[in-house]
Amino acid sequence: MEQKWWQKENIYQIYLRSFYDSNNDGIGDIQGVTQKLEYFKSLGIGILWISPHYDSPMDDNGYDVRNYYKVSEDYGTLEDFRDLLHKAHELGIRIITDLVLNHTSDEHEWFIAAKDPQHPNHIKYHDYYIWQKPKFDSNGNKIKPTRWIGWFGDSTWEYNPPTDEYYLHIFSKKMPDLNWRNESLREDMKKMIRWWLDQGINGFRVDASNHLEKNWDFPDGFPGYENFSSIPRHHDYLQELGKEIFVPYDVLTIGESGGASKEEALKYAGYGSNEFNMLIHFGHCWADVDNHDPRLMGKWSQGNLRVASIKRSYQHWYEMLEGKGWNIIYWHNHDQPRVVSHYGNDSEYHDKSAKMLATSLYFMSGTAICYQGEEIGMTNVKYNQISQFRDVEVFTEYQNFLDRGFSKQEALEIIQSRCRDNARTPMQWNSEEFAGFSKHLPWIDVHSDYTSINVVSQNDDPDSVLNVYRMILKYRVENSDIMNGKVRFIELDDENHYCYENIGERKDHLILTNFREFPVSVNLSMISLEGYNLLYTNESKGMLLSKEVLLDGYSAYVYIRDKNR
Ligand code: GLC
Ligand code: CA
Repeated sequence: MEQKWWQKENIYQIYLRSFYDSNNDGIGDIQGVTQKLEYFKSLGIGILWISPHYDSPMDDNGYDVRNYYKVSEDYGTLEDFRDLLHKAHELGIRIITDLVLNHTSDEHEWFIAAKDPQHPNHIKYHDYYIWQKPKFDSNGNKIKPTRWIGWFGDSTWEYNPPTDEYYLHIFSKKMPDLNWRNESLREDMKKMIRWWLDQGINGFRVDASNHLEKNWDFPDGFPGYENFSSIPRHHDYLQELGKEIFVPYDVLTIGESGGASKEEALKYAGYGSNEFNMLIHFGHCWADVDNHDPRLMGKWSQGNLRVASIKRSYQHWYEMLEGKGWNIIYWHNHDQPRVVSHYGNDSEYHDKSAKMLATSLYFMSGTAICYQGEEIGMTNVKYNQISQFRDVEVFTEYQNFLDRGFSKQEALEIIQSRCRDNARTPMQWNSEEFAGFSKHLPWIDVHSDYTSINVVSQNDDPDSVLNVYRMILKYRVENSDIMNGKVRFIELDDENHYCYENIGERKDHLILTNFREFPVSVNLSMISLEGYNLLYTNESKGMLLSKEVLLDGYSAYVYIRDKNR
């Protein structure tokens, strides 16, 4: 099969607000990205995914869109955006943007009309959103239609007095969910999507794509996620977009969807699927959740790291898609903690574990997404006051934790280790004030470790985390066997190491990495070691391969075998 451009390139995810501030107002912006284009070249990046750049009141940093046709004034102008596209394309870098379809801001003109019975366009736009009349308790008091809980930890319903209704919001209350059953809404969205494609962008990352359909019976349930997640009819909407726009325009589309079955995975992202080219899945993202405390739900419930569950998730996706679709590999995005803090060791073994994590992931097949700052080993925040956090989710959840009996200190620690702001602190460019991100106090505090962890300090050191990322990311695009190979895990169920062969057409690679601080042995007796030579290690010297090898804490080795020799 002919290879598509996105099967030959690495993706870098930019969190616009925190990447680089070109005009020193404390907020990252579009010109900031343009000024750093050479940086991506030096990293072996061919595709940028840029978080929402649309006009927004920024309740959820742009995922709450006020006007789809306008660039946020925080980030610049449409001219800036066109200039970025032009200059990126000149350098052979393609750009995809976030496409937010599930909801708008409550300040979007549709919602302003929808919530106000006096508005001249009320009737048309009321149906663009999802409304329910109140229920009544035994005392005759108004109560919410259901007990559903949204992704940010509070009720999915907000009361709107002028219509005496509740509207649905599965994210913040400033992000009302759209009614995709409404044909006129779908037409408006298609018009907007075409308009952006006509600007010359190369595709989209489609936000929250499995939430577009809801259970319109509105059954009660707690937390009720199944009523607004992965309901089959959402595929109809994606098919419609795909057939009418994504496929004819021949652009890259990456869907965001958790927990897909095999059938679903192929529907979304199988070759020839109209919906997406690839799917962002999350099976490996929270490999340390342990529901031991009933007061903590989902990701907030931290437990021991289960390395096997990371491997099993990737294995599952490789099995589902082998020969039938194209996979994505990534450690995390703007919604999860920093990987070196989460799965590595951000103190004593910072550099070593960061390189180990790069090695374990980026020799796997599929298209890789590297998240801003990961390439220098940026770490989780150490904020010691709740007021330093910015994410809308933090504040509802912090209150939930206090209400459930945690002390302020305990609640702060839970937030610190798991919250989304971990991945959103300003990019650390150098050791000057504000990490060289801006000359102005940034919208969110710079991480205190910026004087030691930054691009400039790592730039000239061939052995830095940054240069190891450069080496590996470039190696991926220069050696198509990596991206196209077949990944075969070794001792999949082992909870300490992450080892596999990536079997290519011309070259095989053997990757041996240890996720623990202590030495771990790997049984290699099931594979043929003949012809393997050392390609890379984060240790000071190589290791002789044998049926049983011992990997030191956080060590990583890559061996290569050229089949033509
Ligand atoms: C996606 C985004 C997340 C955002 C949410 C609502 O999950 O990754 O950052 O808050 O959708 O748009
Ligand atoms: Ca700025």
